Amino acid sequence: MTGIRIDGILVAGTVKERVKMAVDEIKKHGIQPCLATVLVGDNPASATYVRNKQKACADVGILTKDHKLPDTLTQSEMNVLVDSLNKDHEVHGILVQLPLPKQIDEFETTSRISPLKDVDGLTPHNVGLLSMKKAVLKACTPSGIIELLDHYNIDIEGKNVVVINRSNLLGKPLYHLLLERNATVTTCHSKTKDLAGICRQADVVITGVGDRTRFTLTPDMIKDGAVVIDVATARLDGKLVGDCDFEKIIQKASFASPVPGGVGPMTIAMLLKNTVTAASLSASFGGK
Ligand code: GUN
Repeated sequence: MTGIRIDGILVAGTVKERVKMAVDEIKKHGIQPCLATVLVGDNPASATYVRNKQKACADVGILTKDHKLPDTLTQSEMNVLVDSLNKDHEVHGILVQLPLPKQIDEFETTSRISPLKDVDGLTPHNVGLLSMKKAVLKACTPSGIIELLDHYNIDIEGKNVVVINRSNLLGKPLYHLLLERNATVTTCHSKTKDLAGICRQADVVITGVGDRTRFTLTPDMIKDGAVVIDVATARLDGKLVGDCDFEKIIQKASFASPVPGGVGPMTIAMLLKNTVTAASLSASFGGK
């Protein structure tokens, strides 16, 4: 059996079309959606991600304000910047690209962002709302994964879903979104015992490790017809790869997402969606 290749570029395109229509509509009410991006230091991968996010914003008519800062930035300078973006009525979304240099605390920084401008869904306020099924701004990669499952009519109600990741950006918010869909969710991590055995029980495996020297999700670790979503971005022989060898895993899976071209484009599409949502939130809370 060969499974169906999940096409993240195609699905992201449908999300972007909807976002563009929403942007056109909100502009008629005098609101120009705007995302502020904050990039600290010169990590080339982070710089590429931010550039791709800015380009995608331009594609759908969202303005961006670019803040590039040296890796000598102090915590108090970062706090001043976040405070000024929180107050800026022209800015609707704030994206602080992670990871940050070690002198900058991720929690202190992201939790300072106004929850109404928190397009990454990382503030304690929005994380709390997510755990109560009340979130409006949700973490981009997890909501992009749900969008992919929906597009391909992959029903997860009552299914065993294994997530190999426990980060604030991926595994934890994804847990809540999967649970909302009535999946039975198992979160695995570096200390999990018998990972292969747990994965073999899963109807859906969502993997986000991103280090092929430590981990590869191999076909013997999934059951026949499982759905495999690969969220990792790793390097192997100079190439961008995920946690799986896609050509091998698709032989056994019913659906599988490739890297690149799977979840990555969805993360960006959901960021655009969150930014236009934040712009309409700011209008309903009296700002512009
Ligand atoms: N670094 C890797 N992924 C992300 C993301 O989705 N948001 C932010 N802010 N930083 C990241």
